[in-house]
Amino acid sequence: MSLFSSSISLRKGISITDEEFVQLRDFIYEKSGIFVDQKRKYLFESRFRKRLQELGLNSFGDYHKFLKFDSSRKEEMIRLFEMITTNETSFYRDTKQLEAFTDKVLSPLVADIRKQGKKDLNIWSAGCSSGEEPYTLAILLFELLGMDAARWNIRINANDISMAMINKAREGVYNDYAMKTTPEAIKKKYFINEAGGLRIKPEVAKLVDFRLMNLNDPLALKRIPRSHIVFCRNVIIYFDEDMKKRVINAFYDNLMPGGYLLLGHSESLHKITKAFKPEFHPGTIAYKKE
Ligand SMILES: C[S@@+](CC[C@H](N)C(=O)[O-])C[C@H]1O[C@@H](n2cnc3c(N)ncnc32)[C@H](O)[C@@H]1O
Repeated sequence: MSLFSSSISLRKGISITDEEFVQLRDFIYEKSGIFVDQKRKYLFESRFRKRLQELGLNSFGDYHKFLKFDSSRKEEMIRLFEMITTNETSFYRDTKQLEAFTDKVLSPLVADIRKQGKKDLNIWSAGCSSGEEPYTLAILLFELLGMDAARWNIRINANDISMAMINKAREGVYNDYAMKTTPEAIKKKYFINEAGGLRIKPEVAKLVDFRLMNLNDPLALKRIPRSHIVFCRNVIIYFDEDMKKRVINAFYDNLMPGGYLLLGHSESLHKITKAFKPEFHPGTIAYKKE
């Protein structure tokens, strides 16, 4: 029996006071770096209400105490992260960016690695949601390397703060929505038709290592193997400036010299850092660590 659920009666329609909102917002920020704007207060309230009822809690203040002190607080943090994150994603998301990335970043990088007599490539997909982004990167590599792909040592480290998303990514089965911008030929080549949807082929899945990880955890960030490329698209929009700086600095440290950082189309490093050299290509900015 958990600490706060025992004697409290269930009540429908619990609402959040301004004070409780600030309390929870600060707690979420401290744990995840995600900043919930005041404008999202009502969305926040409706997302949490059901959970409070499930736990038999009477107020958002009690939920805050539950998150801080209850014996099941660790498991509750997993639920909390699932409730606060936006996991929108799809295969071949932002096709223009991916084309530019393949032509202007990936191909020259692969050629350079080959020139050095090596066949190792590490990519980090930070905030990978349900896996569509890192699997797309794996497919792009298969398309680029052709038969030679089997001789390369490719590792795509993909992580997210949502356990539900990591589980879905590991399962690797997708519906039409996830495939909405995926070329038909790619679907045929890299997926297996199943009753539940399209399953990513094992040779593609093999390249990606999915792990639960919080970008607000500096030690976890340091454990990621050094990368040639970091993809962090549509993630830092949820962070405040301080958190953006910490995460981007961690990417900089993780990247090998000559490596690249790619962000989402509405994101940039403006006001965050000048450490990277931006390369402007039609369709994307690629941030180079020189
Ligand atoms: C909108 S999705 C973007 C997915 C993918 N990168 C794309 O662009 O299609 C943002 C993802 O970032 C994850 N995220 C948010 N804050 C995070 C944090 N502190 N640590 C790790 N992942 C986080 C969310 O769980 C969510 O799955």
